[in-house]
Amino acid sequence: MINLEVKISEKEKSYPIIIEQDKIENLKSKILKNIRGQKFLVIISQQVDKLYGHLLGFSKEEKFVLKDGEKEKNLNNYKKILEKALKMGLTRKDAIIAIGGGVVGDIAGFAAGTYMRGIDYIQVPTTLLACVDSSVGGKTAINSLFGKNLVGCFYQPKSVFINLNFLKTLDERQYKTGLGEVVKYVFIEKSCKCSEELNFTNFITEHTDKIIARNLQTLESLIEMCLKLKSSVVEQDEKELGLRKILNFGHTYGHAVEQVTKYRKYTHGEAVVGGIRFAFALAEKRGLIDKNYRFFANDILDKYNFKQIQELPISKIIAAMKMDKKAEFGKISFILPTDYSTVEEVLLNEDEIS
Ligand code: GLY
Repeated sequence: MINLEVKISEKEKSYPIIIEQDKIENLKSKILKNIRGQKFLVIISQQVDKLYGHLLGFSKEEKFVLKDGEKEKNLNNYKKILEKALKMGLTRKDAIIAIGGGVVGDIAGFAAGTYMRGIDYIQVPTTLLACVDSSVGGKTAINSLFGKNLVGCFYQPKSVFINLNFLKTLDERQYKTGLGEVVKYVFIEKSCKCSEELNFTNFITEHTDKIIARNLQTLESLIEMCLKLKSSVVEQDEKELGLRKILNFGHTYGHAVEQVTKYRKYTHGEAVVGGIRFAFALAEKRGLIDKNYRFFANDILDKYNFKQIQELPISKIIAAMKMDKKAEFGKISFILPTDYSTVEEVLLNEDEIS
């Protein structure tokens, strides 16, 4: 078992992350020990409930089962969650428990952050993507017709329980989408300014086969490293005023791809990997890196055989980018590589992008 802590400057907002391989049957009692009140509402992914509901042991009345898919992160489900919490009589001491991937974590976190001006919530990520990224850092949101994650708040969880057993049954495409966020850390590691030198690039290149085979011991170390890097960034810039933007590497183009293809064609991780390739091409064109670094990056990405993004009309991509939270004063914010494992923000106008 690995114990990490996300140390937020306002001390009461700091929280533990537990990474373990214990039986899923033991999870409920551990989670409930973290709850201050008497009541809780579990928001759980339909697929996870189907596979693990009997082992987790929450009753039907305690659960809000959310269908899978990005489009479920919507205003209507948010309203239903709040109404269920109100009907159950949850008070400010009670808690919401999110069990699932990024969609569940984001909507549950947003509901927790806004219910009675904020109640505790506990993240139990069950996908690789949620383990290495969305369950930590307190970004919560729902989508709007105008774009992804446009309505939300920064609201840190009370604790994060990562049980690696969930990853065994994750379908291959979902597993790969998590690997998209994992490889992102290779290219931003030095910019994360983590106090510990992890050498994540070496780890990834030396353990590729074990990572693809989902060796749990390897995944434990992999998730630990990703979260050390992520925590380091969140601790320095909780509200994304500066440094935290580097976690959006690959996301400017990635989010636009998801938006233009209506979240149907590509998973988030596939779109992010497309965005990483785009960022490398853009950085090379702008003379920020040489072609050797782009080849090196593409070699790493190619090893995981991610689904390739087809070319999309740049006018549509730019229109989607302009709606993104990352757009500022008519310019679009890109995180671009400038050296090995180093990135920086560059603001570009439409002409420069097309
Ligand atoms: N997923 C990027 C962040 O948490 O900032």
